Amino acid sequence: MALIDVRHVTKVFGSRPERALARLKAGASKEEILAESNHTVGLYDISLSVEPGEIFVVMGLSGSGKSTLIRHLNRLIDPTEGEIFIDGMDILKLSIRELEAFRRNKTGMVFQRFGLFPHRTVLQNVAYGLEIRGEPRAAREEKAAEWVATVGLTGYEDQYPEQLSGGMQQRVGLARALCTDPEILLMDEAFSALDPLIRGQMQDQLIELQSRLRKTIVFITHDLDEALRLGDRIAILKDGTLSQIGTPAEILLDPADDYVRAFVKDVNRARVLTVETVMKPPPLRLTDETLEQALAEMQRRGAEIGYVLNARGYRGVVTRDAVNAAIASHSGPTVDEIAVGAPSIAPGASLAEALPATLSSTFPVAVIDAAGSLEGILSATEVGEVLMPARQLEAAE
Ligand SMILES: Nc1ncnc2c1ncn2[C@@H]1O[C@H](COP(=O)(O)OP(=O)(O)OP(=O)(O)O)[C@@H](O)[C@H]1O
Ligand SMILES: [Mg+2]
Repeated sequence: MALIDVRHVTKVFGSRPERALARLKAGASKEEILAESNHTVGLYDISLSVEPGEIFVVMGLSGSGKSTLIRHLNRLIDPTEGEIFIDGMDILKLSIRELEAFRRNKTGMVFQRFGLFPHRTVLQNVAYGLEIRGEPRAAREEKAAEWVATVGLTGYEDQYPEQLSGGMQQRVGLARALCTDPEILLMDEAFSALDPLIRGQMQDQLIELQSRLRKTIVFITHDLDEALRLGDRIAILKDGTLSQIGTPAEILLDPADDYVRAFVKDVNRARVLTVETVMKPPPLRLTDETLEQALAEMQRRGAEIGYVLNARGYRGVVTRDAVNAAIASHSGPTVDEIAVGAPSIAPGASLAEALPATLSSTFPVAVIDAAGSLEGILSATEVGEVLMPARQLEAAE
């Protein structure tokens, strides 16, 4: 079940949203409504769900409604219309007291401008959530110190925010959000104020933390590279409406409209797309068959080549011709022995990393995962097809 379930949420800012809402439903645009009534459409008919453990990125230009959307998730903003369920709970029905508990226990928020308390030390900032929860000082400071260490700031516990660089301050922000062990982490442009190098380091750290913590993260950015790097799925907002929701590969390879297309057109696909998103299923896997069995299997499957994987691992490729020749020679080698060594590649490798192997290999390259199983094959043709710039593809059609 989805952890976060947003259903038909519309937000109109202004004192009398009803009329603007009716106009919106009648097809009026955000600009028209603003001009007519001075009401601003923040979001219009947004439905989406976020699965437990995923990093869900919301992307869009300035003013597209990203902050408005994330602020609905802990009810810093109430919708004009629509429903929001978190963990099956209708959060719009929470009493003030329940809402406080929900915010305190279920969610943590990291802001763009760090939002640290200037007169509190690093440790006190990180421990803040536990403090308002009423945890005794020793216990909360112990936990806070662990989180300070996790984000790499040991030694800075007693410093004040202004004594830290931007990147360090944002790590304090992250540690503070994580310290209460919330299920959901809401990050609104959390890395946008950082310079590119530090920003990249923060992205690495988040990915590394996430691989251990498996939080559900809603991450807002206006930066496509960041979205592609962090997102398990990406939602693209335009003028308060959803243009597309998809995996990075889906967004890159199959943009839903011109807005998304404009976003993705200059992306270096070779670096973003992974082998598993474009590989083909394995045609034929051979283990320790006899040559005759291997030949029969190749004939039955119509396969000209087979990929040999046995207890010793990936052994390489055999062709049907080679099997035939070996049978004819009566010298009795095993399938393993006539396999020609060939490169393999990991499913998570980027196409840029995979390209040399695909170009140098006579056969499609075997895609072998960490457990040693054959997940698929990849040839230079597939790589070439997805790397060809969109403009050329259009011209070719
Ligand atoms: N409190 C508010 N009152 C009136 N209008 C608002 C309010 N908050 C947001 N808006 C409007 O709602 C729309 C969406 O704003 P929002 O802040 O969600 O955009 P954003 O995608 O987060 O932009 P940015 O990238 O600049 O942070 C904008 O047109 C904005 O003017
Ligand atoms: Mg914003």
